[in-house]
Amino acid sequence: MEVTNVTEYDAIAKEKLPKMVYDYYASGAEDQWTLQENRNAFARILFRPRILIDVTKIDMTTTVLGFKISMPIMIAPTAMQKMAHPEGEYATARAASSAGTIMTLSSWATSSVEEVASTGPGIRFFQLYVYKDRNVVAQLVRRAERAGFKAIALTVDTPRLGRREADIKNRFTLPPYLTLKNFEGLDLGKMDEANDSGLASYVAGQIDRSLSWKDVKWLQTITKMPILVKGVITAEDTRLAIQAGAAGIIVSNHGARQLDYVPATIMALEEVVKAAQGRVPVFLDGGVRRGTDVFKALALGASGIFIGRPVVFSLAAEGEAGVKKVLQMLREEFELTMALSGCRSISEITRNHISTDWDAPRAQFAPRL
Ligand code: FNR
Repeated sequence: MEVTNVTEYDAIAKEKLPKMVYDYYASGAEDQWTLQENRNAFARILFRPRILIDVTKIDMTTTVLGFKISMPIMIAPTAMQKMAHPEGEYATARAASSAGTIMTLSSWATSSVEEVASTGPGIRFFQLYVYKDRNVVAQLVRRAERAGFKAIALTVDTPRLGRREADIKNRFTLPPYLTLKNFEGLDLGKMDEANDSGLASYVAGQIDRSLSWKDVKWLQTITKMPILVKGVITAEDTRLAIQAGAAGIIVSNHGARQLDYVPATIMALEEVVKAAQGRVPVFLDGGVRRGTDVFKALALGASGIFIGRPVVFSLAAEGEAGVKKVLQMLREEFELTMALSGCRSISEITRNHISTDWDAPRAQFAPRL
């Protein structure tokens, strides 16, 4: 049957993939409250569409860190994409570039920065996990820059791995025929089996728990690439990130895979946008599955959004064609949402085009007519 929305790829992937792999992609942390909430919260934001505006032409193009893209819908870093499909990150890179948008490559990709660059032109960001061994980090950042990556997305919500119980039960580990390609030559490309989650053990062994704001400054001394801080959900940290020289902020709770019972990202977005005061762009990821979700995020002040799971699920289902289809469906839904809301360009999307739970209680106190 024809796939008509992004969410449908979840069930197809579940059928196709080995349980260990599907569970790794799908899971959230602990009770998975935030996982549900990332979706549910979008449903509490309603539209205030404007009518009788000529919407013959809709322009979805926008600019991210100076790079022009076809729409404010980008690809979040998700690890180990070759578990989903043999072409893994290659397929994702091609799909993103043919859609005219940005792909973020995970540090833990199963294809290297050079391999992904070899797929052809495209605007790509590199997601960085900071290893205890700073030489490893410096080398990798240099390689990404040389391979033409345009920005670093520094993940700051993972000093330790969140407790994902399915991964513990399944003894999740990277299948032996794959490696974390960026680390292959550094002897850090394999993941040992553990008597819980192999990934959690890998993180405990290699990732630097002492990472702090001074390291954001250090990173700027080793690269010219702008740094997006990925994983901010409070006003306090927004201000610190800007002070530390961040070029942008990604409001993210890591797809609800780290600390459970943090708010949905769409609920945290406006606090961050207000604290940023327009000094740097603010992006969002987490639970975006519809064009209406994209619009809501932009109305709350985001400059763009990233999608995670829809990419790995569609990759599992149909490879490159699946990822293309996901981007196309979101694009069409977003365009329709803009038209039905009376917005002809991204800059016409305003806070007044939506209403939220936390707005002045206009509904409750509206006079009865
Ligand atoms: C992730 N995410 C992630 N983030 C990151 O900074 N580095 C990484 O390697 C990964 N890997 C990863 C794997 C899988 C399977 C998932 C689902 C997520 C988090 C990701 O970048 C993003 O924050 C969320 O996926 C966004 O939420 P949705 O779109 O999945 O709901």
